[in-house]
Order: sequence, then C-alpha cells, then structure tokens
Amino acid sequence: MRNVTPDNITEVFTGYFGPDTDPRFAEIMGALARHLHAFTKEVGLTHDEWRAGLKAMEWAGQITTPERNEFVLMSDVLGLSSLVDMINSHPGATSSSVLGPFHVSDAPPMALGADLRADFPGEVVLVQGHVRDLNGKPIPHAQLDIWQTAPNGLYSSQDPDQDIMSFHGLMTTDEDGYYAFTTVRPVEYTVPTDGPVGQILDAAGRHPWRPSHLHFIIKAPGFRDLVTEVFPADDPYLDQDTVFGVREDLVMHYAPQPAGSFPEGFALSGKVDDAWSRVDFDFKLVAR
Ligand code: BEZ
Ligand code: FE
Repeated sequence: MRNVTPDNITEVFTGYFGPDTDPRFAEIMGALARHLHAFTKEVGLTHDEWRAGLKAMEWAGQITTPERNEFVLMSDVLGLSSLVDMINSHPGATSSSVLGPFHVSDAPPMALGADLRADFPGEVVLVQGHVRDLNGKPIPHAQLDIWQTAPNGLYSSQDPDQDIMSFHGLMTTDEDGYYAFTTVRPVEYTVPTDGPVGQILDAAGRHPWRPSHLHFIIKAPGFRDLVTEVFPADDPYLDQDTVFGVREDLVMHYAPQPAGSFPEGFALSGKVDDAWSRVDFDFKLVAR
C-alpha cells in the first residue's frame, strides 16, 4: 500500500501479516496497533513527545539487569501487571498480586513453625493458616515460597548487610494443609525512583510507596501456581499502592497477643517473653 493515511494505517499494518502468522499473535499485535494508533491520534502526539517516550524506553533498557528490571517496574506502575493479574484470576481463589523484582530463587527450606526473622529485632508475628482448594478441602504438601522486607525497608538483594537468603524461606504444608512461621512486621517501602519510572511518577505527581506486605508463591501438584501478597489492614498506603497490588481478599490483620502467651510447637516457643501478634490467613488455590 503506497497511499498510507492516518485513517487506514491500522488496516495496512494488519494487512502486512503473512498467511502463516499465528492467529493469537495476529490478534494481539492487531489490537496493539489499533490502540496505539488511536492513542497517537487522540493525543495528537508530537515528535518531541514521541522521542521522549522512546528515550524513556532506551534508558529503561540501559539500567535493566537480571536483578533490576525497569520494564517490569514500568508495567507495575502503569497498572499493566495488576490488570494481567486480575483478568487471569479465578473467582473464589485467592487473588494473585505482583511478583515484584525481589524474589530470590532457591530459598532455603524451613520447617513448619520456623522463624524467618533471623537476628532482626522487633515484635514477633506468628503467621499461620491453611492452603485449601475451592471447596475448602486442605491441600497437604503445598509449597509456600515466602519473602518480605527486613525492618529497615530493604529486601536482601538491595542490602549488602543482609545475607541474600535473609527473610526468604520455603515451607511445606502438613497433612492438614497447615503452614506457620514467625517473623517481624515487613514495612512499607518505595519502588526504585532513580530511572525513567521515577520520572514518570514525578511528572504525574505520584508517590512511589507500596504498603507493607508478605510475598507468597504457592505451588501444589494439580493446582495453578499462586503468586500473591498479603497486606495489613492498618497500613497507611493500603489504599494507594503505587503498583495497584492490593485486593480486598488480600488484607490481613495483626491480632495483638499478651506477653507470656506465645504457644508451644514453634521454633521460638519458650523464647518470646514480650507481647506478640498473630496473623491468620488462608489461601485458596484453583485446580489446573
Ligand atoms: C515488590 O513488592 O517487591 C515490588 C513490586 C513491584 C515493584 C517493586 C517492588
Ligand atoms: Fe514487595
């Protein structure tokens, strides 16, 4: 087509697909082109604005490493990651929520009732619950990959003073689908702002904060993997997570417990003299 116009460019684009193009690829690329072209016309994109967008992508590429992916972060702050999570969530199952960049592979196995907080000070929090199917039946031997920030607001991969496996652990549910571990409260933190994402947030007058949360990846044979996070109800950023990860069913409560009442059967039993908190949270997985 030699007479390309603003009105026909989307049809011309899809007309260039070869006959063997995968139909799903054609559907996605066709819709992407349609929306991109409509967006460009709607805002009357100027050359300077188009160049600024490309520069942001170029900068994102330059600072992206295996440990820090600026494209994922851009997807997060634009709401794209959470939208993909939400449209792929299953009704009745625990909602999925952003993975984020701070997961570490091959976390060390933890026994049921183990302590995740190593030597960090702070009030002890006992987190416990069950992993169940959609009918409420417990799922034994489900694997929970758990991680969180240290009380200094940093994940292990951001903090040279922490062991890389600090606040990371793998737990397996017992025959009743039960899991339990002790830790200290994770804290709210900011996403990295020293790249193009920081500039986008700044230009939009947005803050970079995430509410505090515990991360989980839960896997069990015959069930869909669940990547999620749980957030305390009293966190000041609960209603303004900069990556849109909070869902109503992912909100938990710290239930205060008096000094001297810490139960038997946990790694810290007999070692907790002060007041502590308890979090009860159940996960529901959907069958594959
Ligand atoms: C996180 O929860 O670890 C996270 C998620 C998205 C962007 C940055 C951090
Ligand atoms: Fe996080």
